[in-house]
Amino acid sequence: PFPEYVKIVEVGPRDGLQNEKIIVPTVDKIQLINRLAQTGLSVVEATSFVSPKWVPQMADNKEVLRGIEKVEGVSYPCLTPNIQGFRAALDAGAKEIALFAAASESFSKKNINATIEESLARYKDVCDAARENGIKVRGYVSCVLGCPYEQNVPISKVVYVSKKLYEFGCYEISLGDTIGIGTPGATHKLLQAMSQAIPMSAIAVHFHDTYGQALANILTSLQFGISTVDSSVSGLGGCPYAKGATGNVATEDVLYMMKDLGINCNVDMNKLMDVSLWISKKLNRSPSSKVSLALSHK
Ligand code: HMG
Ligand code: MG
Repeated sequence: PFPEYVKIVEVGPRDGLQNEKIIVPTVDKIQLINRLAQTGLSVVEATSFVSPKWVPQMADNKEVLRGIEKVEGVSYPCLTPNIQGFRAALDAGAKEIALFAAASESFSKKNINATIEESLARYKDVCDAARENGIKVRGYVSCVLGCPYEQNVPISKVVYVSKKLYEFGCYEISLGDTIGIGTPGATHKLLQAMSQAIPMSAIAVHFHDTYGQALANILTSLQFGISTVDSSVSGLGGCPYAKGATGNVATEDVLYMMKDLGINCNVDMNKLMDVSLWISKKLNRSPSSKVSLALSHK
């Protein structure tokens, strides 16, 4: 039995744009977030409070977060890698943040210049500070099905890091297939182990689509009772510290599959398609979702 409702976490404005070489104007980022919030999406990840030396595209985080219209009932989480980022996000009005740890030691070093244990110590402090300030915290674990720098990421490590973030107070743990290498078989094994560790209702899945397996992996996840799926409009994205990894699964492709399964996501497909075409034009490329490719031939 599939869940009746699936919450989509739209990550296009953050995961989608962070890898763009050319700096996207702040007004366009603001408009993207505003338009996404008008489609019915209840979560639109807005930006990252990370070092502008590491990710120049997110340097306008404060302006973006301050500039958007805050729609009632929509949350706009922002990535924060440490307490400095947390304070900056709080100062800019964030009500929800997202931490990002990894299950691979090498990726953790490359992405946030910290070992896994160092990052967990930082994140515990951030979670404590967030609790004191009434801020919700989402937790990411990267490289859950493979790493660009390490051969093998043990499932036990994914479970370990996820449990830690959950214990620190993250209300949701998003399992990231950062390089889009996973298959339904690997997803099945991972979720079987995760289901022993954390309630399925607190797990989200975050698939990049490098090998075209994301929808199949999502279907597998739904069968485990997972009801939160991360995706990005138009399939935008990649990760600056995972070369060659393509974007997240496209939100419109996820919606197309969900509709046929009778799963409600509360997102207006027509409005979302308009946003997909609009942002693709702004970025001077064609949308990479299968749905928009299919419709463009009609
Ligand atoms: P570091 O160089 O070790 O930092 O970077 P530091 O603490 O030694 O400080 C060095 C400088 O950075 C100082 O400035 C700090 O003020 C500044 P200076 O004195 O040299 O002028 N700094 C900051 N500035 C702004 N905001 C901050 C901040 N912290 C320190 N928060 C750091 C460590 C974590 C900062 C860096 O590695 C970083 O910013 N990394 C972010 C990388 C990133 O954003 N990656 C992409 C997101 S993760 C992802 O995409 C995966 C995901 O989608 C899930 C999946 O697909 O798996 C979530
Ligand atoms: Mg990602």
